[in-house]
Amino acid sequence: MTTRAVVRGVGHYLPDRIVPNAEFEKTIDTSDEWIRSRSGIERRHFAAEGQTTSDLATRAARAALEDGGLEVADIDAIIVATSTADLTFPSVATMVQAALGMTRGFAFDVQAVCAGFVFALANANALILSGQATRVLVIGAETFSRLMDWTDRSTCVLFGDGAGALVLEAAEGTGTTADRGILSTDLHSDGRHKDILYVDGGTSTGEVGHLRMQGKEVFRHAVEKLAETAHVALDKIGLSGEDVDWIVPHQANIRIIEGTAKRMQVPMDRVVVTVQDHGNTSAASIPLALSVGKARGQIKQGDLVVTEAIGGGLAWGSVVLRW
Ligand code: UT7
Repeated sequence: MTTRAVVRGVGHYLPDRIVPNAEFEKTIDTSDEWIRSRSGIERRHFAAEGQTTSDLATRAARAALEDGGLEVADIDAIIVATSTADLTFPSVATMVQAALGMTRGFAFDVQAVCAGFVFALANANALILSGQATRVLVIGAETFSRLMDWTDRSTCVLFGDGAGALVLEAAEGTGTTADRGILSTDLHSDGRHKDILYVDGGTSTGEVGHLRMQGKEVFRHAVEKLAETAHVALDKIGLSGEDVDWIVPHQANIRIIEGTAKRMQVPMDRVVVTVQDHGNTSAASIPLALSVGKARGQIKQGDLVVTEAIGGGLAWGSVVLRW
């Protein structure tokens, strides 16, 4: 028998305030047409004043627990993928732990920017396979609106706020790719590219800072590296694009999503796309898309799902799982 980390529940939370592209036309030199055609984004959600990343994460966590028919007492560990922690420390994960009333187990954050959820899933999988945890809440939560320079039209129209969560649970499988659960992971980073996507604040400046991005450069790396990592993760278990029921990609740009799917030889009707409604929610985008994809009736039990993401660092990777 082989232990597998199987999805037991999924949920998400989006802040109430929806901002359509047209709203940016009032303050910066941009247009709904430019934003739609260059990124695929039509609207995004922004957190209310005082609403923090841990608030969003806690709501998504509750939704995932409810979906799985679980109580807080059933959870051993919480991992939150985020780059927009409420405070420098403690971790958002411990804040979620307290908000849920969970007084046992352990909680920590993972920071791999837009690839954070893929890194968090791989970590949760390792904790489950090594027997250190039986059920792990894996959350991606962000308030990227707090990092925007509202005068920089090349970035401020692209990002949004939100949170998504999965509960992963240890289960016995047969050791074949027919098993439910995480089947393969592939992680990478290359710090030589740290200057093409970063936030210009932190302990070195004493301020939170603003997101800075060389969009074209990130775009170039994204299409190449995402298809490659997905291919490697599938190849490790003897599968290919043909076997994939759903690609659930990081939702940064529809052109990157389409380019990656094309390279993987997976048609767009097998890709979960939410970028039009959420914008780029960084580490939250994949769990949001998984939750929305399930709610839409796209992702069903037994489907082979590939998640892939790239972000600041650069850090990138993919996870193959059977839902
Ligand atoms: O999640 C982490 C990873 N992040 C990403 O994956 C983002 C990757 N990059 C992208 O998605 C795209 O590069 C962008 C959407 C950011 C930009 O698209 P692009 O096709 O690469 O456009 P560009 O940066 O080459 O800009 C084209 C033009 C420029 O004008 P000039 O220099 O050609 O006159 C920009 O100044 O579009 C201009 N521009 C805008 N125009 C209207 C840039 N932002 C805007 C805007 N509205 N908001």
